[in-house]
Amino acid sequence: MKKENYQRFKNAKIAIIGANGGIGSAIINKIYNLDVTNEVIEIVRTKKHSNQFEMDMLDDNSIFSCAEEIQKKYNNLDIIINATGLLHVGNYKPERTFREINYDYLNEIFKINTFSPFLISKYFSPLLNKNHTSIIAFLSARLGSISDNSLGGWYSYRSSKAALNMLIKTLSLELAYTNKNAICIGIHPGTVDTKLSSPFTEKMRNKKIFTKDEAAGYLMNIINNVDSLQNGYIIDWQEKKIDY
Ligand SMILES: NC(=O)c1ccc[n+]([C@@H]2O[C@H](COP(=O)([O-])OP(=O)(O)OC[C@H]3O[C@@H](n4cnc5c(N)ncnc54)[C@H](OP(=O)(O)O)[C@@H]3O)[C@@H](O)[C@H]2O)c1
Repeated sequence: MKKENYQRFKNAKIAIIGANGGIGSAIINKIYNLDVTNEVIEIVRTKKHSNQFEMDMLDDNSIFSCAEEIQKKYNNLDIIINATGLLHVGNYKPERTFREINYDYLNEIFKINTFSPFLISKYFSPLLNKNHTSIIAFLSARLGSISDNSLGGWYSYRSSKAALNMLIKTLSLELAYTNKNAICIGIHPGTVDTKLSSPFTEKMRNKKIFTKDEAAGYLMNIINNVDSLQNGYIIDWQEKKIDY
């Protein structure tokens, strides 16, 4: 099998938060398939095997303890990818109109898409390697772009990702002072065939839908090629900047 040249993933310590998810697990498979030495740290809410680290994404103490355990074991990290996220919850789906806004749905969406990344930033960004380029990347979405919003709808998801984008920008500014080698970005995978998107992809006949493996490759390209001038950017699968 052809090995791809993901230089930045070589000899790197890479943490994937949401390692059991569609995109998270595809990135891990791709990393394992590289003919290189590295350490892959899988962080999940429910362990599927003993090497994974369990973390409650919504619990301050759990995120703190997980980051502390990883720091003790690995000292620092070169790449952190947060691949968690939520779009539909139980019977709740993205709102087509403001009439469908529901507090419980809004709360669930914000908890995982926005609040959890805040806590991940707090406890994991101090682990970013200070000696050479290190990256913290959050799975965002084009739908979180305010300037790109021409269709409307999907109030909760759009807003949760727009707030995530503000977190990314703000964290990038602080990191520019505290760790000049660190880069913080949002990454947009395009539409990908996963559990998150499956209720909606049937209707998207005219849209290109990527396999998880394709999306993982695109996202790894972004992380491989990003530089400090792009700190704070939201970057799509084509490696193009998405305006906030
Ligand atoms: N798929 C797309 O078309 C698409 C497009 C744009 C952006 N994105 C973004 O890409 C990211 C990954 O999505 P995906 O497509 O890979 O979806 P997915 O297969 O449903 O994976 C979602 C991940 O989030 C985790 N998660 C969800 N709710 C959680 C909760 N309450 N507590 C802890 N973990 C929770 C899941 O953990 P479990 O495995 O334990 O359930 C899983 O790891 C999301 O941020 C999404 O917004 C996806």
